[in-house]
Amino acid sequence: MAYMLATDLDMTLVGDDEALERLNHQITELRTQKNLKLVYVTGRSQELYRSLEADKELLKPDALITAVGTEIYGGDGSLLEGWPKTSGWDRQVIEGLLNGYPNLIRQPDSEQRPYKVSYYLQSDELTFARIKNTLQHLDVEVVYSMSQYVDVLPRGVNKGSALLRLASIWDVPATNVITCGDSENDITMLSVGKAVLVGNAKETLRTWAKNRADQNIYLAKAECAAGIEEGLVHWGLL
Ligand code: GLC
Ligand code: MG
Repeated sequence: MAYMLATDLDMTLVGDDEALERLNHQITELRTQKNLKLVYVTGRSQELYRSLEADKELLKPDALITAVGTEIYGGDGSLLEGWPKTSGWDRQVIEGLLNGYPNLIRQPDSEQRPYKVSYYLQSDELTFARIKNTLQHLDVEVVYSMSQYVDVLPRGVNKGSALLRLASIWDVPATNVITCGDSENDITMLSVGKAVLVGNAKETLRTWAKNRADQNIYLAKAECAAGIEEGLVHWGLL
């Protein structure tokens, strides 16, 4: 039976080059020994993923989920058709409502995607609460990550739901899925399967994990790729 390792990139898989190199070797073995499928799940657009790929030693994944779950690409780089299924999503309405909002800075065009509207907002929970309020009548999810990024997505479309879509296509049971992350936009994915929170995860995320009733989240001590390795040992894959 197949396994799936789904990991966030920035400050989860990527952040410690030496640990990444060690982990890459282990993942390569697991891919043949345990039929492990490797999936990167990132907030980045495919374009920004390519620039990271040019910079770091990344294994070629079996699938790539970008733009916070709103786009799914196969290992050959082809976009999965029919994802996401939404109705009533209108990015112009969202942009119109948030246009001119104090402290909110529009992210570059590459990060504005068909199903994702993104801004920068520097450590400002109050403004974030107001934004949520402004958009509450729409069928959207609003995520604030790293006290820095605001993403507006169609409701129900996120890293977790995209991952479940892939797991169903590949017929991998949730118990064989291992998810790894460090920040707020990973929460939906860390709620799937067996999760690993890397040691450098944000405090808010650690608190969220500790308050969960189920025992499906392992809090690693080691950071970034070394934390993933620790998690793979904990969940019995290594
Ligand atoms: C990545 C994306 C950005 C997004 C952020 C948080 O940095 O490039 O658009 O806002 O992740 O999801
Ligand atoms: Mg991250």
